[in-house]
Amino acid sequence: MTKLQERLGAAFPLIQAPMAGSQGSALALAVSGAGGLGSLPAAMLAPDALRAELEKLRASGRPYNVNFFCHTPPVPDAAREAAWQQVLAPYYRELGVDPAAAPVGPARRPFDEAATELLAEFRPPVVSFHFGLPAPGLLARVKAWGAFVLSSATTVREALWLQEHGADAVIAQGLEAGGHRGHFLSLDLGEQMGTFALLPQVVAAVRVPVIAAGGIADAAGVRAALALGAAGVQVGTAYLCSDESLASPLHRAALQGESARHTQLTTLFSGRPARGIVNRVMRELGPMNPAAPAFPLASAAIAPLRAAAEKSGSSDFSPLWSGQNASGCTSAPAALITRALARCWD
Ligand SMILES: Cc1cc2nc3c(=O)[nH]c(=O)nc-3n(C[C@H](O)[C@H](O)[C@H](O)COP(=O)(O)O)c2cc1C
Repeated sequence: MTKLQERLGAAFPLIQAPMAGSQGSALALAVSGAGGLGSLPAAMLAPDALRAELEKLRASGRPYNVNFFCHTPPVPDAAREAAWQQVLAPYYRELGVDPAAAPVGPARRPFDEAATELLAEFRPPVVSFHFGLPAPGLLARVKAWGAFVLSSATTVREALWLQEHGADAVIAQGLEAGGHRGHFLSLDLGEQMGTFALLPQVVAAVRVPVIAAGGIADAAGVRAALALGAAGVQVGTAYLCSDESLASPLHRAALQGESARHTQLTTLFSGRPARGIVNRVMRELGPMNPAAPAFPLASAAIAPLRAAAEKSGSSDFSPLWSGQNASGCTSAPAALITRALARCWD
């Protein structure tokens, strides 16, 4: 058993990627039950919902990971948000949507004092972060109960920074990965690399174990990551069509159809670059439209368009998060998907 496996507490070092908005404890429990490490994404959960999910995970007696974002909330900019509503105005008119119906405030919250206190009651064995690490005082409290701390690095510089600032292992997130990029030291996407370019360079640079993420969709992908020096893998997209995923029927159909071959990074749905399947709003406004408000404020204005379009069976305004390799998206219990991915450890 490797050090990483021991610390994750799982039968094999396969982490189900936390996917905020697309899954909850049911997926985490299924993956942990099959020998991997299930993750609970907390970024979009209100405190009561987070508590309820943590209670289910604790009751299972299985290992689990809890994941948080640690971005700095932006100063709201009313002029920028009004300008963004103007960009979206033709769509509001087309769909007969009242822009005033847009929810106010950020839909994604960063790790903070209250989350630390709640988490301390449960003392999860593994805690992972996206967009860097929390403030040193908060991180010290998480580490004080013995949690094994992970965070995503998208460059060698970020991996070294995470090691220096207390991460026990680093997730090397390649450019292929679905959902939000975890970059936090530089906003220059030109510095970001594909998994097989990033992974060996991070492995060579740091002392802590490195977990590969991005584009891994089957056992051969897992084997390839291990051959390049990964101590474990983190897989997201391949779980999105599992029975336990909360992905909508429209999202599942896109993942299992031709359109999944064309993904792009987009800021339209949250304000930060995240990878999803190209749809109408990405094509028409440009996926990285500079008018989109800062993360996470962009999600509010597009939400009513998404809701109205989805009601009539259209994913024109939905974030169809996906990595570049959706070939592992099968409709099956997550335990089966986990065992198929883990075949190389048989
Ligand atoms: C739908 C979706 C939501 C995601 N949400 C999160 C999240 O809440 N926290 C996080 O650390 N990573 C998140 N990610 C990124 C994953 O941690 C991981 O880097 C990625 O799924 C790996 O690439 P793959 O999708 O090709 O397997 C998300 C990915 C997807 C596909």
